[in-house]
Amino acid sequence: MQIFRDKASIELVIAEVKRAGKSIGFVPTMGALHAGHLSLVRQCAKECDVVVVSIFINPTQFDNPSDLDNYPRTLDTDIVKLESLELDLLVFAPNASELYGSKVEAEHFIFGGLEHRMEGKFRNGHFDGVGTVVKKLFEIIKPDRAYFGEKDFQQLQIIKKLIEISHLPVEIIGCPIDREANGLARSSRNERLTSSDREEAAFIYQTLLKVKQKFGTESAKNIRDWVEKEFEKHPFLKLEYFEIADGNSLITAEDIEPGLNYRAFIAAYAKDIRLIDNVALN
Ligand code: PAJ
Repeated sequence: MQIFRDKASIELVIAEVKRAGKSIGFVPTMGALHAGHLSLVRQCAKECDVVVVSIFINPTQFDNPSDLDNYPRTLDTDIVKLESLELDLLVFAPNASELYGSKVEAEHFIFGGLEHRMEGKFRNGHFDGVGTVVKKLFEIIKPDRAYFGEKDFQQLQIIKKLIEISHLPVEIIGCPIDREANGLARSSRNERLTSSDREEAAFIYQTLLKVKQKFGTESAKNIRDWVEKEFEKHPFLKLEYFEIADGNSLITAEDIEPGLNYRAFIAAYAKDIRLIDNVALN
């Protein structure tokens, strides 16, 4: 495993890999690695000759300064976890000035409306920050394929749009959500929950599974009302939004149309920790 802190030195290695005609797979992360991240790295290694993992807590995608301050910074243990995979990885862990220079600012993107829904509505400027950093990273790493988790399903759709509007020759691969034993979607933020909090937070996934059962026999509106009532009975979790939406456009489903692929999405707070999850409905 090789670790690079600066752009110039990883660019030299990337140029060599390209000259040798090898394929490059890329897994961008913000560190605080867990089994979900590692599943992306494993899938990438199966499908690509060279695997690059980036670890960078991107300041421009945090709409809330305390969320950025509280985000776990665990580079040493992240490296140990990556080493345990026994894969020949290139790890890129730059600091902010290496990526942004002196101006830590986001570019503004129009992602065809995807940016206004769900996370975009509740996290101002979040997807401009994600688009900015992923574009910068793609320009350095020049991957053939890049791997993103369905955990952040809207992010995955936004990145596909980014590739289209920026004309970047990268294939975007969506990977399944890795879950804790009780069903809670793994997240770096779960580190800040106690084990009993995590048991409570599994209610998010349990609710999504019940939504899946109801889908097809009940209207979207009835399901929405039911979810809101369920969360009212569960005061440990504060529901921010529940959506049933088309999996491509992410437009809210009012009536269920045949032939479309729907997903259900939840964002909820456990104490001050924001958790998101989603499931495919059909
Ligand atoms: P981060 O939250 O560290 O996630 C890195 C990647 O791991 C994302 O593609 C995310 O969807 C995926 N991931 C997280 N939890 C997962 C789980 N339980 N199962 C499967 N995949 C999971 O997402 C980001 O970082 C940032 O926004 C980034 C794309 C790196 C840009 O800064």
